[in-house]
Amino acid sequence: MRDKSQCRICGGALHEFVDFGRQPMANAYLEPSRFATEFFYRLAVGMCDSCTMVQLIDEVPNERMFHKDYPYSSSGSTVMRAHFESLAHRFVERELQGPGKFIVEIGSNDGIMLNVIAKNGLRHLGVEPCDNLAKVAAANGVRVLNRYFDESSAAEIVAAHGRADVIFAANTVSHISRIDSVLRGVDRLLSDSGVFVFEDPYFLDIVDGTSFDQIYDEHIYFFTARSVAAMAARHGFELVDTEHLPVHGGEVRYTLARPGARTPARAIGEMLERERGRHLTETATLEAFAASVARCREELVALLRDLRGRGKRIVGYGATAKSATMMNYCGIGPDLVSYVCDNTPAKQGLYTPGTHVPIRPPEAFREGGADYALLLAWNHADEIMKKEAEFREAGGRWILYVPQARVV
Ligand code: TYD
Ligand code: ZN
Repeated sequence: MRDKSQCRICGGALHEFVDFGRQPMANAYLEPSRFATEFFYRLAVGMCDSCTMVQLIDEVPNERMFHKDYPYSSSGSTVMRAHFESLAHRFVERELQGPGKFIVEIGSNDGIMLNVIAKNGLRHLGVEPCDNLAKVAAANGVRVLNRYFDESSAAEIVAAHGRADVIFAANTVSHISRIDSVLRGVDRLLSDSGVFVFEDPYFLDIVDGTSFDQIYDEHIYFFTARSVAAMAARHGFELVDTEHLPVHGGEVRYTLARPGARTPARAIGEMLERERGRHLTETATLEAFAASVARCREELVALLRDLRGRGKRIVGYGATAKSATMMNYCGIGPDLVSYVCDNTPAKQGLYTPGTHVPIRPPEAFREGGADYALLLAWNHADEIMKKEAEFREAGGRWILYVPQARVV
């Protein structure tokens, strides 16, 4: 068993810098009959004194999160669909030309990316532990192995299909506590000249945007170019490219290859330099982040209480995993926010974790009655505000909460 004060990557000492207290699992939408037995854990984050990896102190076992009823599906957003489709086309053009090329996606979700690969008639395999998502992907013509990715599933894939030219993972690697087992699996599966590409929320963007709601049970690690380069080196890989992405409030796509197989891109040096210039590993920076988080809570709660005090009706928009941290940390329940609307059928009719606000379909919102809408899916602000233009035309106002609470 790992000691809670120890880095999962290198065993170094973790320096805790922010604590969100008792939290439920962010994607555990529930029925009232399960309120009494809801699972909670302590959400706190630390940085490793040695390899600088930022990570949760405590953790929820993966089996509790990624199961047959996991409600998150990637395809609900047109922006995310376009994001993955353009990446798939890039893989096809740059990495998958030539006979027999093979791509594996770890955590293939509903097949949003591999679908494009499948349509191009290329060899591919999604590895997805959530049965419901694996089934959706399979129905879309994507080949899926319904398993967790680790050394043993990687060995099976090699035996059945040979080694992979590309291994990809979006919003998955940072969710896996045992990254060492993933990297050992990648080592087995990746061809000599292949690339392992993964994208996850970027710690620098979280600090700069006070987007503390990216911190929840599923996000065990918060990467930087520096910590990923160190992790890659420990496992016999080299970081050869980084790309800053605008999705999910700021992510970075990292490309790893075997040492010497690819020429490292200039972007890496630039990103490392930016991280150094921002003093990301210094205690003062981390403490300032924690102070901004606390200020954000104070201001948001004051704003919502004031509006409610003046008889305004507030609803939430988007039952996001990230808003679970914010709502529980701020203590925002049905007294402040009447309901949360969301277009995911699997969430509708259930209640938000920990705070127990009912989740309704977007049609409920369009029927009117709300004066203010707290945008919980702020990463989709443009898409949602455009779609719901009538709300504003009818006098409604949006409330944003990062980097600080404000009415727009
Ligand atoms: P997401 O961006 O994946 O955030 P998280 O990882 O924090 O859960 O979730 C967006 C949620 O918002 C998802 O439940 C779908 C919902 N949504 C809508 O209801 N309407 C929309 O137009 C969009 C874009 C998303
Ligand atoms: Zn470490």
